[in-house]
Amino acid sequence: MLKNSSTSYGWISIVIHWVMALAIFFLFGLGLYMVELSYYDAWYKGSLELHKSLGLLLLLFLIIRIGWRFSNITPAELPGPRWEQLSAQLMHLGLYAIMLMLLLSGYLISTADGRAIAVFELVNVPALPWSFDNQEDISGEIHEILAWLLMAMAAVHALAATKHQFINKDKGLKRMLKSD
Ligand code: HEM
Ligand code: HEM
Repeated sequence: MLKNSSTSYGWISIVIHWVMALAIFFLFGLGLYMVELSYYDAWYKGSLELHKSLGLLLLLFLIIRIGWRFSNITPAELPGPRWEQLSAQLMHLGLYAIMLMLLLSGYLISTADGRAIAVFELVNVPALPWSFDNQEDISGEIHEILAWLLMAMAAVHALAATKHQFINKDKGLKRMLKSD
């Protein structure tokens, strides 16, 4: 099924979840790699362009994903103690919030000088009509912290999914891999 059901995620949620997770891990690695390059490295400009373009594409995906989340039911909580169910909900909300702030901070670094971002040299995403002092440095610091925070959260989130698979032996991970 394309849509979520009360017992499982649907294919649209599943595909968006895994495409975004892969792209985020890739962007994290690319981000760490590209900030070590110097102006004279062949891939200095290309890596940054790719990072920004893919990042903004993810922002579009995230907006669609949040819209889909609200126009669709979410599978019922998995059996388990109440604190575990609440932590899972809080973690999901946190992942959405940090993803959004990370993407927006990236946009603010790249548009700090007032120039638009050319997404894959196809679409120009303009800068905001205003900026704040030290926008590039402040957004850069925030971006770096949020990127590490998102990785830490994703690790805990993935550990929880592994626990559901091997300890609880329930549908936790399976329902994000295959729709019923
Ligand atoms: C989930 C998406 C993203 C992840 C995981 C991510 C991750 C990272 C990481 C790990 C760095 C290196 C930070 C450092 O060590 O200083 C970085 C740098 C950077 N990112 Fe992202 N990023 C994402 C999205 C974006 C977006 C959407 C943009 C802009 C449109 C962007 C623009 C930049 C820029 C300009 C830098 C270089 C900052 C500097 O030179 O200090 N990023 N990113
Ligand atoms: C950057 C990486 C990731 C992000 C940002 C992320 C984000 C999310 C979000 C926001 C949800 C909630 C979906 C909703 O109900 O609206 C979710 C669900 C889920 N994620 Fe991830 N995820 C990531 C990586 C992973 C990995 C690596 C695994 C497994 C190893 C995983 C397994 C799951 C599972 C099983 C669910 C469904 C939970 C349930 O049934 O309640 N995720 N993820």
